[in-house]
Amino acid sequence: LAASTQPKRLVGKRVLLTAGPTFEAIDPVRGITNSSSGKMGFALARACAEAGAEVTLVAGPTAQATPQGVKRVDVISALQMRDAVFANLAKQDVFIAVAAVADYRPAKSVDHKIKKTNAKLTIELVPNPDILAEVAAKKHAPFCVGFAAESRDLARYAETKRKAKKLPLVVGNLVQDGLGGDDNSVTLFDARGAHPLPPGDKLDVARGIVEHIAGMLKKTKR
Ligand code: CTP
Ligand code: CA
Repeated sequence: LAASTQPKRLVGKRVLLTAGPTFEAIDPVRGITNSSSGKMGFALARACAEAGAEVTLVAGPTAQATPQGVKRVDVISALQMRDAVFANLAKQDVFIAVAAVADYRPAKSVDHKIKKTNAKLTIELVPNPDILAEVAAKKHAPFCVGFAAESRDLARYAETKRKAKKLPLVVGNLVQDGLGGDDNSVTLFDARGAHPLPPGDKLDVARGIVEHIAGMLKKTKR
C-alpha cells in the first residue's frame, strides 16, 4: 500500500522515537556500539508520519534516509540521546524507544589515540541511563512503547521489561528474525496479553504496530 492510502489514525498526535544504535567513544578513533541498522525505528517513524502524527526522531549513527515529514535529531552517544529525548519531550503524546542503546560506556574517553603495547588492556565501563525507563517514570509521561530484542525466551523477557519499566506496550522480537534485515516478525505485549503480528517487511510491521498503538490510545482516551 502506498503512503497516501494509509489510515490517518494518529492525526493530532505528537510522537517521539529513538532509533539506531548508540556509539560510546573509547578514544578519538574507537568505540563500542550495538548492532542496529536503524531500519525498524525509521520504518516506524515513517508509519507514524503516514498516519498523520507530528514525528520527531532521535537517531543514533545509521545509514538510513530521513522519512518524509519527520523531524530528525542526530546523536552519537547514549548520553546525547537522553539529552535530545528530554529536550524534545514536552507535549509528546507517544514515546517509542526503538534504539539499541549501549547499556555501558567507557568510564573515561581519552583525548588521544590509545597506543598499542604488548600488555593487557582493560577498559572500565559504567552503566548508561535507561532513557525509556526515565521517560516512563515521569509524571505526565507520554504513552510509552518499548522494544525487546531477545535471543531466547521472548515472552518472558518482554513481559518482564514491560512491568519493570511500567510500559503499556512492548514490541518483542527474536534477534534472529529481525536484526539487520528488511523483514521482521514481532509480537506485541500489553496488559491484555500477547498479540503476534503477521511477519513481513519492516514497513508493514511498523504499520501494524501503529494500528495497535492508535487503538490503545483511543481506549485510554488521552
Ligand atoms: N532502552 C533505553 N535506554 C537504555 C537501554 C534501553 O531507552 N539505556 C530502551 C530500548 O530502546 C528498548 C527498551 O529500553 O525500547 C529495552 O531495551 P533492551 O536493551 O532490550 O533492555 P534492557 O532493559 O537494556 O535490558 P537487557 O539489555 O539486559 O536485555
Ligand atoms: Ca540493553
